[in-house]
Amino acid sequence: MIDKLSKQEILEKLNNKNIEVTVLESTDSTNAYLKRSIRDDLKEGFAIIADSQTLGKGRFSRKFYSPKNSGIYMSILLRPSLSPENAVLITAAAAVAVSRAIEKLSGKETKIKWVNDIYISSKKVCGILTEGSINSDGSFNYAILGIGINAYKPENNFPNEIKDIAGAIFSQKKENLRNTLIAEVINNFFQYYNNLESKTFLDDYRQKSLVLGKEIKVPKNDKLFSAKALEIDDNCRLLVEYDNNEREYLSSGEISIGVDF
Ligand code: BTN
Repeated sequence: MIDKLSKQEILEKLNNKNIEVTVLESTDSTNAYLKRSIRDDLKEGFAIIADSQTLGKGRFSRKFYSPKNSGIYMSILLRPSLSPENAVLITAAAAVAVSRAIEKLSGKETKIKWVNDIYISSKKVCGILTEGSINSDGSFNYAILGIGINAYKPENNFPNEIKDIAGAIFSQKKENLRNTLIAEVINNFFQYYNNLESKTFLDDYRQKSLVLGKEIKVPKNDKLFSAKALEIDDNCRLLVEYDNNEREYLSSGEISIGVDF
């Protein structure tokens, strides 16, 4: 059974008919491709989706393993009106959008590791990388929402470096499953994004959190500090309490709970 990406199948399933979709067999990175394509008249909702990436990018300059026939690598152009310090809301809304789409199509429970990773049974199945360009007045010129999803196990399995932490959502290939998942993610995302200020995704974001109530490690000045994750506030900041009882709101960046890549 094959599951081929198809622009037509994706478009048919999208609620918002203004979304423009380009499907590529391969590119270096869909985020980089989209960045190169940006012109002032390119509208919000322009999406690049690839079957594989040769230089898939993760956060903190990591690579995102992106082999053919198994994943979804997609970048969506946004023209956000919110201020860039609230950009984390875009990533959080996307995380909930992906989580719900995966749960609907797989029946499996997903968890979100603050702020941008999605897990099924302790294995990372999706990573999100939001990048932005800021105008001289401090507002967003554009943002690129990059989403990488491990739909199926890669043909040659995950490489050794990530095989213990990366997982796939589906065990069997099914025709159009990736196209349906892509459309579902985009539909969910724009439902939240179009009402971002009302933060309708926030309850789900908290409820699906993999870190709330857990002991975590927070890196600072090349050291790791133990802390307890207490709360996610309305701006998606994570309130942590260190062993010396000091508390801090973390805005984004890395935390670790023993699973990471
Ligand atoms: C992470 O796990 O740190 C984020 C991974 C983000 C990967 C996606 S795949 C589509 C888009 N293009 C990229 O090069 N990266 C993002």
